[in-house]
Amino acid sequence: MDFAEQRQAMVAQLRERQDISDPVAAALLAVPRHLFVPGVDPEAAYRDAPIVTKRDEAGRPISSSSQPAIMATMLDQLGVEPGHRVLEIGAGTGYNAALLARLAGPAGHVVSVDLDEDIVARARGHLSAAGAARVEAVCADGVQGYAERAPYDRVIATVGVWDLAPAWLEQLGEGGRLVAPLDLRGMQVSVALQRAGDHWASRSVAPCGFMRMRGAFAGPEASVVLRQDPELVLGLPEWREIGDVLAALDAEPAEVAVDGGEAAAYGPGVSLWLALRDSRCCVLTGRLGRGYGMSVGLVEGHSIALLGGQGAHVAGGRGPTGPGLAAQGHGPGGAELAADLAGHVRAWHEAGRPGVSDMRIHAYPGHAHGDGKGTVIPKRHTTLVVTFG
Ligand SMILES: C[S@@+](CC[C@H](N)C(=O)[O-])C[C@H]1O[C@@H](n2cnc3c(N)ncnc32)[C@H](O)[C@@H]1O
Repeated sequence: MDFAEQRQAMVAQLRERQDISDPVAAALLAVPRHLFVPGVDPEAAYRDAPIVTKRDEAGRPISSSSQPAIMATMLDQLGVEPGHRVLEIGAGTGYNAALLARLAGPAGHVVSVDLDEDIVARARGHLSAAGAARVEAVCADGVQGYAERAPYDRVIATVGVWDLAPAWLEQLGEGGRLVAPLDLRGMQVSVALQRAGDHWASRSVAPCGFMRMRGAFAGPEASVVLRQDPELVLGLPEWREIGDVLAALDAEPAEVAVDGGEAAAYGPGVSLWLALRDSRCCVLTGRLGRGYGMSVGLVEGHSIALLGGQGAHVAGGRGPTGPGLAAQGHGPGGAELAADLAGHVRAWHEAGRPGVSDMRIHAYPGHAHGDGKGTVIPKRHTTLVVTFG
């Protein structure tokens, strides 16, 4: 298969699983992703997977070409039209910037900003190899946006943000739209926001999982490495003291079945429900049971409870024994945490199992926050009000 055929196969596969508009599909068909990840097997470049391109000293990924599926979702949320002026925060390989340039056409303009000079230099090289040298790749901390080319019709962050930077909102022109992977108490959603009088309101919300922004605007989210090999990492909305959770995970769990819950049917909706309702929420990622994965739950002191298949034992490497969903509590307070966790999931079922796309997010500048309905999440520069279910 030549590269064009590989792109066709990738787009056809993506379109089997999600709606993709014709302009975004055409951009994916036109822009050669393999030129943005030199050194990677071209076949791998056309798989629907993220490709890590830079790690820090500790081996954590700090730059990548994102998964094409989420890129397509976010490009459709953004709705770039011919002639648009677009700002991207997180140039990475330059691939998304090239897609943006394709959508904005010759009358449009794309600026893409990244924190590291080496990343930007490589992105420029990739962009010119792909015939998209008109994209302006700039080395800067994206928190400032890029005032030199403002106002923009569209601003997109392709890196996880904890708060909305005032510069992005200020640099958007009349009718402008911002799309960003936004933190909601440790969980992430890709939200498209537009002005609504005194604040910004979501027009669409989708599940996503991006590496987090570095630099001055990094958020307080914490990753606690419980174990190096095999890796087990506990994600918390912000750092707090936890006990010996790893020892607790080794013990046989106390299991509470979740009535009516099929393990296969639970998705990002329930994770967000939990994050918005319980400050003890956590996400465990790494080698869980028999494979690599992630599980949401509650953590407190030396105890943790996690959602999983009935009969599964996260650290013990045992897969689920039944199709049902269960809360597994580990440690001295594990049984109580598991009961609380099962209660949250039950409430989510009773509320009609709202999905991420049922969520509405309002972002108020400063500390104002609307009519008091919904979960209020104060950030540094904005206050989010989230309604869900
Ligand atoms: C997931 S990658 C972006 C993928 C990219 N859009 C592509 O198509 O390859 C996230 C990028 O955000 C960058 N980044 C992290 N913090 C940043 C900041 N404060 N300002 C600008 N870029 C930042 C990282 O260096 C990384 O390259």
